[in-house]
Amino acid sequence: MKIAFFDTKPYDRPSFDKFGREYGVEFKYFETKLNEDTVELAQGYDGVCAFVNDTVNAAVIDRLQEMGVRVLAMRCAGYNNVDVKHAFKRLHVLRVPAYSPYAVAEHTMAMLLTSIRRIHKAYIRTRDFNFSLSGLTGFDLYGKTVGVIGTGRIGRVFIDICRGFGMKVLAYDKFPAEGLDNGDTIRYVTLDELFERSDIISLHCPLTEDTYHIINEASLARCKQGVVLLNTSRGALVDAEALLTGIKSRKVGAACLDVYEEESDFFFEDLSGHILEDDTLARLISMPNVIVTSHQAFLTEEALENIAETTVTNLVGFFEKGECPNELCYRCGAAEDCKRGKCF
Ligand code: NAI
Repeated sequence: MKIAFFDTKPYDRPSFDKFGREYGVEFKYFETKLNEDTVELAQGYDGVCAFVNDTVNAAVIDRLQEMGVRVLAMRCAGYNNVDVKHAFKRLHVLRVPAYSPYAVAEHTMAMLLTSIRRIHKAYIRTRDFNFSLSGLTGFDLYGKTVGVIGTGRIGRVFIDICRGFGMKVLAYDKFPAEGLDNGDTIRYVTLDELFERSDIISLHCPLTEDTYHIINEASLARCKQGVVLLNTSRGALVDAEALLTGIKSRKVGAACLDVYEEESDFFFEDLSGHILEDDTLARLISMPNVIVTSHQAFLTEEALENIAETTVTNLVGFFEKGECPNELCYRCGAAEDCKRGKCF
């Protein structure tokens, strides 16, 4: 089978070549993102493989269907960039529900420690033989309260890591996990209570209508003075303008962002020779207490291998057995409840 692979980066190819060879899947790598302008490149392919910043809207889906492309293999967990409702009965959408929750949770903690122990500042100082400590005072994580929004795979690994530091956990989830609340160090609370009592807030929920701008002017107003915000989930969970205002007013003590609402225009590209067009992003990056990484949390060797293997086996399962356990299905309402690709 021949698959058109969009938004290819050099680090994608080794693992996809390896598993493609092993399972007889041929990938044609395109550097461009998938969108209405580039969808024609999929002509003659059995399926397309896309990532977080490709645009799979109704127009793209209709054109893929017209060209006889039957399957979209997302090589990621999130699918907010796919119009899953429109895809129903037009295009089978497969995804990789989990590839390494550890990669994302560990990156979240790496950003938190970097930020609050001022490692990003110390690194630059000592490279310049500046060994002064002024302005580098941090705070202990031990005994602090972390609010975790979304207690799925990544949220739960992050909770384990935080518990290793002796932190108290307040959790919020629309569908709380059974057995996680121990009545003591890990408690499920309301969203408002989480905002009011957390020293650090970390987002690990998907981007949905419910969670769009879950961090906004009103929620930040409820937060503790100096709250630290971590977002390694999806950019649009945070109203970036409200965050900027919160940082300027000192309400927000620090922010660590691996994702940004408008990231598809910038992230994954080398724009070092250009003038950044997004004033909000530029202002955020200019802040001494903001750390931005460009959707890097997933990027470990283990995760890349798992992504490639699951994507390839998803495709093989779909084309050879006619079903895939990782198919998203609008009729079933959610990926987790899907009747395993048998709805159409
Ligand atoms: P998951 O599906 O295992 O967990 C998500 C949790 O969020 C579930 O427990 C669910 O009940 C909860 N949830 C759903 N709606 C909610 C709401 N309205 N309020 C609060 N909680 C809600 O997903 P997983 O694997 O833990 O991933 C979480 C998110 O991390 C993904 O949706 C994706 O956006 C992001 N992600 C980011 C990556 C990166 O490289 N930065 C890589 C992989 C995922």
